[in-house]
Amino acid sequence: MNTDNLVERLKLLGWSYTADQLDGLLEDSSKNNVSYSEFLYTLLSNEIEYKEQLELEKRIKKARLPYVKTIHDFDFPFQPSLDPKRVNEVLTGRYIHNGENIILLGPPGVGKTHLAISMALEALTQGHTALFITANDFISECRKAHKEGLIQRIIKRYCRPDLLIMDEIGYFAFDEVSAHTLFQIISKRYEQGAMILTSNKSYVEWGKIFGDDVLATAMLDRIVHHSTTFNIKGGSYR
Ligand SMILES: Nc1ncnc2c1ncn2[C@@H]1O[C@H](COP(=O)(O)OP(=O)(O)OP(=O)(O)O)[C@@H](O)[C@H]1O
Ligand SMILES: [Mg+2]
Repeated sequence: MNTDNLVERLKLLGWSYTADQLDGLLEDSSKNNVSYSEFLYTLLSNEIEYKEQLELEKRIKKARLPYVKTIHDFDFPFQPSLDPKRVNEVLTGRYIHNGENIILLGPPGVGKTHLAISMALEALTQGHTALFITANDFISECRKAHKEGLIQRIIKRYCRPDLLIMDEIGYFAFDEVSAHTLFQIISKRYEQGAMILTSNKSYVEWGKIFGDDVLATAMLDRIVHHSTTFNIKGGSYR
């Protein structure tokens, strides 16, 4: 049978994957005596899987991860200060449903960004939305937005995703505008939206990063209330 009519209708439905695969699937099914229900099941499952993959790719793109590395690329024996069981608990994604935070602390090169990306990828695979930003890029964005009177837009952007990842807190000092903007985001996300934060500085040094001890204390109080902290030690992997 000529399948042009079927392909045309599948395309009208937006089932492009099935439209492309139809001839092969029909041929396989008749060769192997596949039942109608089994045929339909395979066809629907393939289309759903394809659409889910497209959605995942869209979410990954929107998350603006600097690169893609998974937890399978992480060498746990190299990093004995890190308990794989605690990392695996994070990978279940429970903290996202509970609006909790993950804090990765440690010196340069110990895998903070790698772990943050792995955790974000897992969350994206589970269907969550995420957004990655370095503290320095956030500071630049805030400066620009402040000049244009668009700080509220920044707050909205960073409150929207299920998971916000802010990397490299501590390498650059926040100015007043970016510190206050981050405080508002953290306040709005408190107990609502999960965050992953990485820093090379211990909590006692956060006053200096934000140029304001009172603000840093209030920020940390909200961040740490429902959180898991990983204190990573050791030498750089680089
Ligand atoms: N235990 C590990 N197993 C495999 N790769 C690792 C491990 N630790 C670090 N790496 C790799 O080493 C490089 C440096 O790690 P990463 O960028 O995550 O460090 P970091 O803690 O974020 O450092 P910085 O504070 O300088 O940003 C990356 O390419 C990362 O993939
Ligand atoms: Mg890093």
